Amino acid sequence: METNAPKRRDSKKSLRVKVISLGNAEVGKSCIIKRYCEKRFVPKYLATIGIDYGVTKVQVRDREIKVNIFDMAGHPFFYEVRNEFYKDSQGVLLVYDVGLRESFDALDSWLGEMKQEMGSQANMDSIVFIVCANKVDLTKRRVVDEGEGRLWAESRGFHYFETSAQSGEGINEMFQAFFSSITDMCENGGKRPVSEVSVGFTKEQADTIRRIRNSKDSWDMLGVKPGATREEVNKAYRKLAVLLHPDKCVAPGSEDAFKAVVNARTSLLKNIK
Ligand code: GTP
Ligand code: MG
Repeated sequence: METNAPKRRDSKKSLRVKVISLGNAEVGKSCIIKRYCEKRFVPKYLATIGIDYGVTKVQVRDREIKVNIFDMAGHPFFYEVRNEFYKDSQGVLLVYDVGLRESFDALDSWLGEMKQEMGSQANMDSIVFIVCANKVDLTKRRVVDEGEGRLWAESRGFHYFETSAQSGEGINEMFQAFFSSITDMCENGGKRPVSEVSVGFTKEQADTIRRIRNSKDSWDMLGVKPGATREEVNKAYRKLAVLLHPDKCVAPGSEDAFKAVVNARTSLLKNIK
C-alpha cells in the first residue's frame, strides 16, 4: 500500500490527451501547430497527406500534459484516411482562413463529419473546441470579421482566437487556453465546465444574426419568398423581432441585425399593395 501512494499521486498529476485539427485544405492547420511546436513558419504550401502525428509535453498548473496531436488533411480526397481519427479526442482545433468565406462556412460541415464518424458515441460536451480565425496578418484580403467568427464560436460554447501562424499572433495564447480548458474538463469528470458553455444567448439567435448579415436582399433577410404578401412579411418580421429584440437578445450584433430587419420590413411594405 505504501509503495502505491506516490505512484497514485504522480498519475494524478500527469495526463494524456488527444487533440485533432480540422478545417478546409490550406487554411493553415499544420502551420499553426508548427508555429507552436517548432516556433517557425513555412510559407510554402505542403499539403498534409492524410494525417500527420506529433506529440508534445506541456505544463498546466501542477500537471504535466502529454498531448498527442493528429493534424488532419483538409482535402476531401483524404476523407477515408482521416475518418479513423475522430474518436477519443479531448480537443479540436477548428481552423478557417479569414480571407476565404467558404472556409468559414465549411465549419458546420466539419462538425457534421466529426459527429457522423463518432457515431452514437458522439458526446460533443466532452470535447473542448477552439476556433482559430487564421491568417489575420493578411488584413487587406480579410472577408470574415471578428464579430461574425466570435459569434459562431461562442454561440456553440467554443473558444475563439484570432491567429496568424505567419507572425505568431495569438498562437501561444490560443494553445494555453486550449490545454488549460482540456485540463479543467478532465478535472471536471470529462464535462466541459458550464461557464464556458453558457454565453447568455442561443445558437438560434446567433445563427439568425449570421443569416441576416449574409442575406442578399430584404426578402431573403426576412426569410420570405419574393412577392410575399403583407401578412407573410409581417409574420416573418414579428418572429425575428421577438428573437432579436435588443432587450431580449445579448448576442453580439443583435442590435444591428434587429435594425436591419426593421428596415427590410419597411422597404418591403412600401412596395406591397
Ligand atoms: P492541408 O494540410 O491541405 O489541410 O492544409 P493546412 O490547413 O494544413 O494548411 P498549411 O498549414 O499547410 O498552410 C497552407 C498555406 O497557408 C501555406 O502556404 C502557409 O504558408 C500559409 N499560411 C498558413 N498560416 C498562415 C498565416 O497565418 N498567414 C499567412 N499569411 N499564411 C499562412
Ligand atoms: Mg496540413
